[in-house]
Amino acid sequence: MRAAEVVPGKPEASRVVDRDDPDRPDELLVEGLLVGMCGTDVEIIRDGFGWLPPGRDAIVPFHESLGRVISSPTPDFAPGDLVAGVVRRPDPEPCPACAVDAWDFCRNGKYTERGIKEIDGYGMQRWTVPPKFAVKLDPTLGDAGVLTEPASVVAKAWAQASAVAERSHLPVRSALITGAGPIGLLAALLGVQRGLEVHVVDRVTEGRKPDLVTTLGATYYSDLADVKADVDVAIECTGVARLIWECARRASVTVLAGISGEHDPVPLDPSVFDGMVLGNKAVVGTVNAGLPDYVAAAEALSDASRPWLNGLITRRVPLDRFTDALAKEKDDVKVVVDLT
Ligand code: BGC
Repeated sequence: MRAAEVVPGKPEASRVVDRDDPDRPDELLVEGLLVGMCGTDVEIIRDGFGWLPPGRDAIVPFHESLGRVISSPTPDFAPGDLVAGVVRRPDPEPCPACAVDAWDFCRNGKYTERGIKEIDGYGMQRWTVPPKFAVKLDPTLGDAGVLTEPASVVAKAWAQASAVAERSHLPVRSALITGAGPIGLLAALLGVQRGLEVHVVDRVTEGRKPDLVTTLGATYYSDLADVKADVDVAIECTGVARLIWECARRASVTVLAGISGEHDPVPLDPSVFDGMVLGNKAVVGTVNAGLPDYVAAAEALSDASRPWLNGLITRRVPLDRFTDALAKEKDDVKVVVDLT
């Protein structure tokens, strides 16, 4: 079988290699169908984020997976099932979070992540996964099943928003989503599915992103200043400091789900803190996802309009040219790599 390999920070070393099929009888054997390219993969390949598996000089990239089961050691999965694999594995010690399978809250940083931290990703034509780290998908999802992992990150963000809102008896009726990339759009989808009035802000003024937002029944803005409505929850998907600040000023609960990589100091208005104190407001960060979030994501995708989900997948590149997915083209939302 063929597999992608990358060396963090050395895009020129990216290659496709022949490998033996994996042989782990206790795990699901899966035919890899698609993987999604996300900002983290670009950071790994271009900027050197990520950790190689011990003793190796390259890692198989990609953590957003879609595959079809070839064989299963348990009756919970059957050949032909569409599945997505979980990204993170608990730390071996384990920490208090990993001890209860809440690996997404790992306290000691000794977790591993497929395609990101020390273990190979899903960018290969055959992969295996322990049944506990696989999620069965609605077979009618087809290619859109590759959105399960980003949707799991968003499902966790919404779960955090609900938990924090509950603590202050906040009835959540409206949401502000900053950023209309795959994470922001999926956050908007889950907000609409919760019956909320959803406002989405991104820089672009036209094209596929505004269309996808309005088709959902949410409202699109290319300038945050134009959002006049009150917002109960903000899901911040850009990591841009100015936007984080504005979310914290406007919303009772802000969930930070994005990283910008920006380092330049920005002027901040300290009155935002007064508002946070007097309004019992909260800002929480979230990363990764636990199994319940993957299950929630699979259900949310199953309930979503297929044309809308398929509209998020804007480009498909073959495994042999997987690095073509690194650069975003105009109107790209999610670019996927076809492993078949
Ligand atoms: C992935 C997460 C992962 C995080 C940090 C994100 O792109 O979606 O699963 O935990 O990167 O490595």
